[in-house]
Amino acid sequence: MFKTGKLKFMIILAIETSCDETALSIVKAEGDLESLSFKVLASALRSQIEMHREYGGVVPMLAKREHLKNLPILYDLVTKEAGDPKIDLIVVTQGPGLEPALWTGIKFAENLSQKLGVPILGANHMEGHIASVLLNKEESSKEVTFPALALLISGGHTELILMKNWAEKEKIGETKDDAVGEAYDKVARMLGLDYPGGPEIARLAKQARDGDIKNERLRLPRPMIHSKDFNFSFSGLKTAVLYYLRTLKGIEERDKLEVAREFEEAVSETIIHKTISAIKEYGPKTLVVGGGVVSNDYLRTKILDLKESFSELEILIPEPGLTTDNATMIALAGYIQYLNQGLSDQKLEAIGNLPI
Ligand code: KG4
Ligand code: ZN
Repeated sequence: MFKTGKLKFMIILAIETSCDETALSIVKAEGDLESLSFKVLASALRSQIEMHREYGGVVPMLAKREHLKNLPILYDLVTKEAGDPKIDLIVVTQGPGLEPALWTGIKFAENLSQKLGVPILGANHMEGHIASVLLNKEESSKEVTFPALALLISGGHTELILMKNWAEKEKIGETKDDAVGEAYDKVARMLGLDYPGGPEIARLAKQARDGDIKNERLRLPRPMIHSKDFNFSFSGLKTAVLYYLRTLKGIEERDKLEVAREFEEAVSETIIHKTISAIKEYGPKTLVVGGGVVSNDYLRTKILDLKESFSELEILIPEPGLTTDNATMIALAGYIQYLNQGLSDQKLEAIGNLPI
């Protein structure tokens, strides 16, 4: 094993299997916590979305089967693409996520670790989403000025995290029920749209805005917008959509457009409102935004618009294409964790609800 500070750079093989994407990346990482720099040597991803779509959501046992099938194939792909470099560290997502899916990545990583004689480190998927803001498609050396506020919006999480630095993090708010991506997926299902629902609703909502389609009588709640804390709740919003749809005789195309638009606006307003409150309360220098829902163009624009009210605030958002799950962000999170804590001798375990 190597010691901290001895290596000038490190070649990391990262593995992500927490949900319905099997992803592997080989990343060259260098620098210390004040000046991190990364180069993606190879990266591959197989999405299982088509398969889960049939069931309207992710089926954990099917996800596990697919990961088992995909992992060796992607491993061959990335090692070839990167020119078969000597790997210094294997990083694997340990949680949060679906445990049967997480275990496939961990077992694969353990076997590889033995075979290559390389240490292994378990990373937190949500820390991966935070780190994804450091990433460009190929090379990156962005820095985060602390204190930072991280807004994490994915299929399983909706959280506001205060970061004093890369190691000291405090959760200041979270959803009390559904995550925002989950709400998108559930509302999409009510509207008869495909899984994952986020992109489908986003498409319809955009169509409605472009065509100036709006139902003035349809007003969905902006949940917990007046609460003094930084928590979220999206389950009531989802139920409000359900009750509204029940008042209709049937769901016409126009109804879908109207609901999608109003839902997207309700969600975005709520998230922006809470984020503004947290910025005012804590005065961060940087706003870091991560998670699959950042792919939403409408919300992305609203987040970037915060610059108008907070001109000193630096806003870091992952590039489109790097917002949803990938292994490069896991490599970055692993490297940061390695710099912070070094390696651990503890046996890796999948932890479905691993906190940040
Ligand atoms: O981060 P992610 O890839 O997986 C988790 O860690 O959960 O996020 C997936 C979530 C899904 O709920 C999906 O519907 C949502 O991100 N999503 C979107 C969009 N693209 C993906 N939600 C809203 N608008 C989008 N364009
Ligand atoms: Zn994710």
